[in-house]
Amino acid sequence: MSISEAVSNKNTSHKSIEERLQIQRLVEATKIVSSSAGSDVVKGLTQFPKSLPAYYFYDDRGSELFEQICELPEYYLTRTETAILQEYAGEIVKITGACELVELGSGSSTKTRILLDAYRQLNYPLRYLPIDVSAGMLESSARNLLKDYPSLQVYALAGTYELALAKLPPTQSPTRMIGFIGSSLGNLNPHECDVFFSQIINALQPGEYFLLGIDLHKSKEILEPAYDDSQGVSAAFNLNMLDHLNRRFEGDFDTTQFEHWAFYNETKNQIEMHLKSVRSQTVQLKSLNLTVNFAQNETIFTEISRKFNLNTIQQQLTTKGLVPIQTWTDAKQWFALLLCQLQVRD
Ligand code: AVI
Repeated sequence: MSISEAVSNKNTSHKSIEERLQIQRLVEATKIVSSSAGSDVVKGLTQFPKSLPAYYFYDDRGSELFEQICELPEYYLTRTETAILQEYAGEIVKITGACELVELGSGSSTKTRILLDAYRQLNYPLRYLPIDVSAGMLESSARNLLKDYPSLQVYALAGTYELALAKLPPTQSPTRMIGFIGSSLGNLNPHECDVFFSQIINALQPGEYFLLGIDLHKSKEILEPAYDDSQGVSAAFNLNMLDHLNRRFEGDFDTTQFEHWAFYNETKNQIEMHLKSVRSQTVQLKSLNLTVNFAQNETIFTEISRKFNLNTIQQQLTTKGLVPIQTWTDAKQWFALLLCQLQVRD
């Protein structure tokens, strides 16, 4: 389909917000988050060393705290990636042409606006497909975008990446780009990363695009404060996971008896976040019928944030068939944005 066909077929600018908004709630995702999630907690807190799945960070308070982290002077990731996007969004648009945007972990869609502004200049009815586990966040940010972009259509998918990628509706534009920015790839371990790339590949047609934002290797002196800031927001974000579990599973974690602990593991090139028990204590999670004993200084592992070597990730993507056709970085080479294209299979 040419751009002019797309324009004449689907002139959406006269339509109301309700007519331009569709939200698909993936039932299975709700089940994952509400029921089997409890079994993850039981599993994580009964093994040694103890761990908890990172998605428990993101209740309403956790999402708010993460937005605050993005504004911290020490947390260079957001502003560095934003600056790269601002500088190169026009180039991305030039390469892809008229394109439908899928965004994984869209959150408040703030950085997306930079891309939408650039695509808007092509003057065709753009469709945006944000994917997030929080249906509430999806709806409110979609409504804000629809107010500001009168020819935008939003098809939001509330669910896990895996389910949403498997259920993407057919493309309405000449091509499609899946965006995964913010270096959220770093929160996946190498195995999860492999599985994730396969899901991306299955969701794209040959020739379509994958836009990936990643945080690069750098010194411990810069990395550690980004995950343990002077205002204590990162600490509050980590500790909020326990409050979240208290609410969700009738727990009695006393957050004053745990400490935030984040450090850079230079062997694995990853930040590791833990919660450390300041004394020996027992915690109950009533609705899970679970009693957990902690020794003094025992830790719960809550998150990894991997930092990447540009050549290695470029090679890994190429091997998978997601060929990086353009890479942009900032002057300090702290962060990179890679535009990849799914190879045409022979
Ligand atoms: C969402 N993700 C990319 C953040 C990161 O930097 O790994 C999560 C985060 N955890 C603590 N601070 C920020």
